[in-house]
Amino acid sequence: MELTDLKHSVETAEASALERLRGADSVDSVRRLENEVLGKQGSVGSLLGRMTEYPAEIRGQVGKLVNEAKTRIKEHFAAKLATIQSAASARDETEAKSIDPTLPAPVQPMGGVHPVTAVQWEIERLFERMGFTVEAGPEMESQYNNFEALNIPPTHPARDMQDTFWLKNGCVLRTHTSPVQHRSMKKFGAPLRVIAPGRCFRYETIDASHENTFHQVEGLLIDRNIGLPHLIALAKTLLTEVMKKEVKLRVRPGFFPFVEPGIEIDMDCQICGGRKCPTCKQSGWVEILPAGMVHPNVLRAGEIDPEEWSGFAFGLGLTRLAMMKFGIKDIRVLNSGDLRALAPPDRLSGTVIS
Ligand code: DAH
Repeated sequence: MELTDLKHSVETAEASALERLRGADSVDSVRRLENEVLGKQGSVGSLLGRMTEYPAEIRGQVGKLVNEAKTRIKEHFAAKLATIQSAASARDETEAKSIDPTLPAPVQPMGGVHPVTAVQWEIERLFERMGFTVEAGPEMESQYNNFEALNIPPTHPARDMQDTFWLKNGCVLRTHTSPVQHRSMKKFGAPLRVIAPGRCFRYETIDASHENTFHQVEGLLIDRNIGLPHLIALAKTLLTEVMKKEVKLRVRPGFFPFVEPGIEIDMDCQICGGRKCPTCKQSGWVEILPAGMVHPNVLRAGEIDPEEWSGFAFGLGLTRLAMMKFGIKDIRVLNSGDLRALAPPDRLSGTVIS
């Protein structure tokens, strides 16, 4: 083959490659074309492979010719790629700038506060309006505060291994919020109005209505001439406010070592409306507010003179009240990490969690 023929083929192949390159409009199509032209089998790339068809003395020139053409073509391809890429990034930028701020924002799924926390906050606000202070005692409590200071003798069943979590350091996980009564008496003296919401622990077999970890709200009011009617009136206000409707109360005698007399205040079951169901153990009533007049021994332990002061105390079952309010039939869901328990309260009622 003559050198002039080769020159001609190179020029034709180069011209056609550049012509096709002009029509390419994406990175992919440029790369594909590059391979078709410069690859081993390509229109220009393959020319080097045919070197042996030329007389030995002109092979040097052949190589030079083809390689120069390859370099020129490569430059064109590189320039074209750069143009396409910068056009693409300019397009991305305009798109980013062209977000329409008048469109509604994407909807984020809403969480909610835990049902027990929601009721706790509501109760705190209510009691604050009535002049109560909100106190929080520790969850790890001394035996003295949890039992002795509350007139609970060493023989009381509440201390049984089955009821109490005993810790190696001699303390207990508080079995109720009542130790905050003693702490508050020591801290504030009389007169006194305090509530203490918080977590309590008992060694319980867990079922639909029993948990080893649950919440109570302790209440304590100490003043002059305080009697049971004050306590019952307060119970009525409290439960009616939380349930947002007039609830029926039933008062029965009850025994707790730290009150005398002790009472049980029951509320008509809000799950079945008093028609009897498993939640109210087929009675139509739920025990919600054990209470009573503070025992003189408890006042004395708190350095308050029982001759001068009297008061009432109650231990509201906060977890149970939250279940009643939101129609939650199984207590286990509350500590389960089931996110459905965190749905906003208006979406919680009865339907989802049963
Ligand atoms: N601490 C008692 C319990 O957990 C509940 C209780 C009963 C609290 C009567 C009181 C009370 O303040 O007066 O079982």
